[in-house]
Amino acid sequence: MKYRSVRGMHDILPEAIGRWKVVEEKIKELMIRYRYHEIRPPLLEYTELFKRGIGEDSDLVGKEMYTFPDKRGRSLTLRPEATASVVRAYLEHGIYAKEPLQKLYYLGPMFRYEKPQKGRSRQFHQYGVEAIGSIDPALDVEVIDIAWALLEELGLSGLSLRLNSIGCQADHKRYRQELKDYFTTRLESMCENCQQRCRTNPLRILDCKKEECQLHIQSAPASVDYLCSDCSRHFTAVRNYLEQLNLAYVIDPHLVRGLDYYTRTVFELISSHLGAQDSLLGGGRYDNLVEIFGGPSTPAVGFAGGMERLILVLQKRKERTNVMVRPDLFIAALGDESRPLVISLAQQLRRKDISLDIDYRSRSLRKQMTYANQINARNIIVIGPDEIASGTGRIKDMDSGLERKVSLKPAEIQAAMEK
Ligand code: HAM
Repeated sequence: MKYRSVRGMHDILPEAIGRWKVVEEKIKELMIRYRYHEIRPPLLEYTELFKRGIGEDSDLVGKEMYTFPDKRGRSLTLRPEATASVVRAYLEHGIYAKEPLQKLYYLGPMFRYEKPQKGRSRQFHQYGVEAIGSIDPALDVEVIDIAWALLEELGLSGLSLRLNSIGCQADHKRYRQELKDYFTTRLESMCENCQQRCRTNPLRILDCKKEECQLHIQSAPASVDYLCSDCSRHFTAVRNYLEQLNLAYVIDPHLVRGLDYYTRTVFELISSHLGAQDSLLGGGRYDNLVEIFGGPSTPAVGFAGGMERLILVLQKRKERTNVMVRPDLFIAALGDESRPLVISLAQQLRRKDISLDIDYRSRSLRKQMTYANQINARNIIVIGPDEIASGTGRIKDMDSGLERKVSLKPAEIQAAMEK
């Protein structure tokens, strides 16, 4: 084979689409209930947007972006996530002037140059929500509630919500320094990467999975101990609302997330069915991002989840969500002379909203019937010289086995199928 898809980028084949549709439909239906509106930003942005928004020290910006110059030498990047794009669009189009609280959602591909493995690819798809324009802790909880509702309504089990607060910028700065001081005295027994991280971004050490580092991470300072009174009150309110709504959570004192824009609440929903890449979705507050991008001070909160990971978990349940849509009708042609009529009927019936198929491979009648069974057609009609001569045919309902005589007119065939 001469060509293969790019490493870490996968085709989603027709037999898998059923599962994707189940998830996409559920997301769209939920968004109507919670009143979030769809936004579709472009896949390419100026690189600067992600550098400023996500942070130059993050792994995402430092190592994982697909960045290249356009024909005029401007640096462009395939979006590694959508929060930065949504905030850019929010500002660029002055959406906030119409209604200061904007509740938006998106679905679409993201690109990260990561080492591909199960549950991690270089092109992957995210669903996400961004609620921009309110500091209300009830909004943090609304966003978390959407995440829970989605996963629960899809029938997922073995989920756990990890929650933390990393405070405002000043708290964050204090915590960072505290971590730096703590790890500096332990660096000798830690991995090389963490020794480097301690200088550039000590928060990143908390994500290290190496055994020698884990030992020190476990007793590292917790961010909640460095919250100012406002942030502390906010976090208490988030927890109270979660409890009021029976949304179970565990505090993860070292959850800080990999993107620099986060403030206050951060969370992840983890699946026990996923192995190493267990984060089904993650998010939190980003109260400074709108301002960083040149807008007015505007708090915001959101999350994004990986479609592929969600579908991996759904697949484990082995449900028949991968069945392709059943056609309403298969029109079999007996002999070449019946083809013109079959082709016209197919066109007219499809325009009447009927899903149907005909033969394009000169198959015998028997093989056409086998094919009609294979695609699970609801009805079958055979058109040959006798049918053409009489102007009538017999339509067979494949579920009940019932046959009906019909005249070969689109409206009558349609009516016979609706009976
Ligand atoms: P993130 O944690 O980088 O957050 O990604 C969110 C989710 O995307 C992850 O939990 C995971 O399910 C999925 N994901 C990430 N990378 C990959 C990959 N390489 N392959 C497959 N799935 C992946 C964000 O992107 C933030 N923008 C979320 C957010 C929205 N925060 C506030 N608003």
